[in-house]
Amino acid sequence: MVLEATGALAGAGGLGYAKVRAPRVYWSLVGLPVTWGRFALSYRSTMDVCGLTVQPSRLRAFVTRNLTRREVLPVPPKVRRVRGTSTGLRVTLRLPAGLEPADLVAASERLRHAWGVHAVTVAETKPGYVELRMTGYDVLRRVRLPRGARPEGLAVPVALREDGTAFVRDYRKVPMALTLGANNSGKSVYQRNLIKGLARLPVALVGIDCKRGVEQSAYAPRLSALATTPDDAASLLEVLVGEMEDRFDLLSAHRVSDVWELPETVRPVPIVVLVDEVAELFLISSRKDEERRERIVTALIRLAQMARAVGIHLEICGQRFGSELGKGATMLRAQLTGRVVHRVNDKQTAEMGLADVAPDAVVVASLIPAERPGTAVAADSSGGWAKIRTPHTSRDEVVAVCRRFAHLVPDLPALDPYRPSLGLPAPADAPPVESAPATV
Ligand SMILES: Nc1ncnc2c1ncn2[C@@H]1O[C@H](COP(=O)(O)OP(=O)(O)OP(=O)(O)O)[C@@H](O)[C@H]1O
Ligand SMILES: [Mg+2]
Repeated sequence: MVLEATGALAGAGGLGYAKVRAPRVYWSLVGLPVTWGRFALSYRSTMDVCGLTVQPSRLRAFVTRNLTRREVLPVPPKVRRVRGTSTGLRVTLRLPAGLEPADLVAASERLRHAWGVHAVTVAETKPGYVELRMTGYDVLRRVRLPRGARPEGLAVPVALREDGTAFVRDYRKVPMALTLGANNSGKSVYQRNLIKGLARLPVALVGIDCKRGVEQSAYAPRLSALATTPDDAASLLEVLVGEMEDRFDLLSAHRVSDVWELPETVRPVPIVVLVDEVAELFLISSRKDEERRERIVTALIRLAQMARAVGIHLEICGQRFGSELGKGATMLRAQLTGRVVHRVNDKQTAEMGLADVAPDAVVVASLIPAERPGTAVAADSSGGWAKIRTPHTSRDEVVAVCRRFAHLVPDLPALDPYRPSLGLPAPADAPPVESAPATV
């Protein structure tokens, strides 16, 4: 008996430990079977009390009443499929006439408590069908991307959604994007995750990091170009505009309207331009910088408006991005379809990012706590939004990936003058370093 008791105690202790330390394991061993059972037993009554049932059709009511001589009960959505995952439970429901996905969304808080799960989100899979995505524990506490999530094509899984699925940044669906967030909210880590994924794909990466390259110069082995000062950025962006025009000539020579329609042998490689801290490009300290600002803004707007068709993509990061940045700022913002908003200090910043694409997400973004860096609200083009969090990826890890895939840097002669020299974190055309110690 002593043995049995110790065994049971050890088992219980192990489970308690697993619940905190390895929630995935705990969920698979205990949470999933318990929740599945609870769901199966209480489905009908839960849907009934949550107001998610409809009156049966007349024919059905007639058959029930007269042929089976049973009471006519309201009918809940039919369960088409139940599937356990490593983070939760997915249930596909066929909606009866009279219910819409919004009804389930409105009741999701009640469902979550009824089945004792961490969260319930509702996704419409096709007309008439919805998927209830339950998560058994807080998946955003320690983020791990699902095993199948891998970069491919031009799509990179960068973060985890609250419902346990990967948030994929797909450049062919959303060609341009904007990431906002206060200091230390996790914007650079988001871009770092993007670079980690993009590095393995056949694309050219261009960095513009006007904080003297503190963030991006470490990724030099995989970058085709890097600008670390506004002056460099201005000329680099003009070179990109030139590249865009050349590519349009190529499209018109082949009589197509999109690079993806070109035969593979002549198709130019896609370029992703990553801008860290966009305000640095807009703000000027003196009158003489005005002309530079004008060049930068014009080039950025032209790229944002037209470059999608030729496979040039903008990925812009900043703390704020409103009209206070001056002429052209809101016009550029309007071109950036993808929006990711990290923790913000004021409601206006959240509104800058989300008000025009997903207004009900503004409140959620304003409530992200500071102790969870990397958490953000991502709006997608369909008007929906999701809470996401990036995996905590160290710079060294990404540097290693960049080194490993350095051979994938494509041949783009136009960008060669801006190719960061390895070893030195400054761009190739920067003034020689030897001039600095002359004053010693
Ligand atoms: N997903 C995450 N999980 C855990 N920690 C994170 C995550 N994302 C970011 N952090 C931490 O938060 C801190 C700030 O991140 P980051 O440098 O990306 O912020 P930022 O928004 O770029 O700030 P700044 O505006 O000052 O450049 C870093 O120390 C980083 O380790
Ligand atoms: Mg940063």
